[in-house]
Amino acid sequence: MIARIIGTGSCLPESIVTNDDLAGIMDTSDEWIASRTGIRKRHLAKDETTAFMASEAARKALENAGIEADKVDMIIVGTITGDYITPSTACQVQGRLGAVNAVAFDINAACSGFMYAFHTAYAYLQTGIYKTVLVLGAETLSKIMDWTDRSTCVLFGDGAGAAVVQAFEEGGQQASEKEMMGERNGLLAFEQGSDGARGMVLNCRGRLNHNPLTTNPFAPSYVSMDGQEVYKFAVSTVPVSIRRVLGKAGVEVGDIKFFILHQANLRIIQSVAKRLKADVDKFPVSLDHCGNISAASVPVLLDEMNRKGMLNRGDKIVMSGFGGGLTWASAVIEW
Ligand code: ACO
Repeated sequence: MIARIIGTGSCLPESIVTNDDLAGIMDTSDEWIASRTGIRKRHLAKDETTAFMASEAARKALENAGIEADKVDMIIVGTITGDYITPSTACQVQGRLGAVNAVAFDINAACSGFMYAFHTAYAYLQTGIYKTVLVLGAETLSKIMDWTDRSTCVLFGDGAGAAVVQAFEEGGQQASEKEMMGERNGLLAFEQGSDGARGMVLNCRGRLNHNPLTTNPFAPSYVSMDGQEVYKFAVSTVPVSIRRVLGKAGVEVGDIKFFILHQANLRIIQSVAKRLKADVDKFPVSLDHCGNISAASVPVLLDEMNRKGMLNRGDKIVMSGFGGGLTWASAVIEW
């Protein structure tokens, strides 16, 4: 069985907020934000909801893949900012698309959400349970930011990205010449991990506890982060995860055309490139215009690259997510 991404889509809110715009409402500057993070602007939702952006991204991905909504077997959304506790964002996407044959659920793995969803999809595809899965990352992070905390709110943005992943029988009708020669493509290998013991370095308490019996009702809170600890986690864990997944796939750093990393911070990306001894030009960037959109950052960047024609059949690509939980996940795919 070969599981391949056959279509991508994305949706960003209309409103664009520059660093200078932020400097007009808080004590910050374009120089501070851009030099420490690489971020210059971000899209922030006005009326767009997480479900709306996810549905638009999904619609475009289906169109790109040439697949009708009723052919989708499963919808998985990586998100920590769904509009409701229930229904899930995935169920809302299913309803909006009319994907009547799909089972739908969300995954909470913060910035690794899309990658966890992608790997979960693969498990269902590999066992033959399903054939076509819509995998999404969608976030409206602006609603869980403390807009008086300049150390966090300047980093994040809103948006959604989607990929249609489909299983093909090896040597089947849709298989390439290489596959018929016995060489696999699609998803070559993945690896993922979690470290709950360090989870509080990046946290957000979701909701008020309404239980009248509780003696310790904690209040909701905004995103709170120990930036330096998160930085250390990212630059130490991501290169190890990528080396591990390259080993599993039996390919070298030099074989990879692009490393599509979660877009948290340019300095993290540069450090990972250095530690892997890889050319930093192989690490495409969208955080300059999107900021950090958590689970949406990998699929939004993937869609940008796909639509620019940067991805060619046979290219080997690494995708890697890391963030809250703590969580991380990396995959090697052949486009
Ligand atoms: N504008 C101006 N000054 C600011 C701002 C701001 N937006 N934010 C903080 N400062 C000030 C602080 O108050 C502090 O001032 P002081 O020295 O007078 O006390 C000074 O800048 C330095 O603050 P630090 O928090 O120490 O800044 P640091 O150099 O660590 O940079 C950053 C912060 C960019 C967040 C860094 O820690 C980092 O890159 N962390 C990685 C984590 C990350 O990217 N997280 C994103 C989300 S998590 C994820 O996606 C995995």
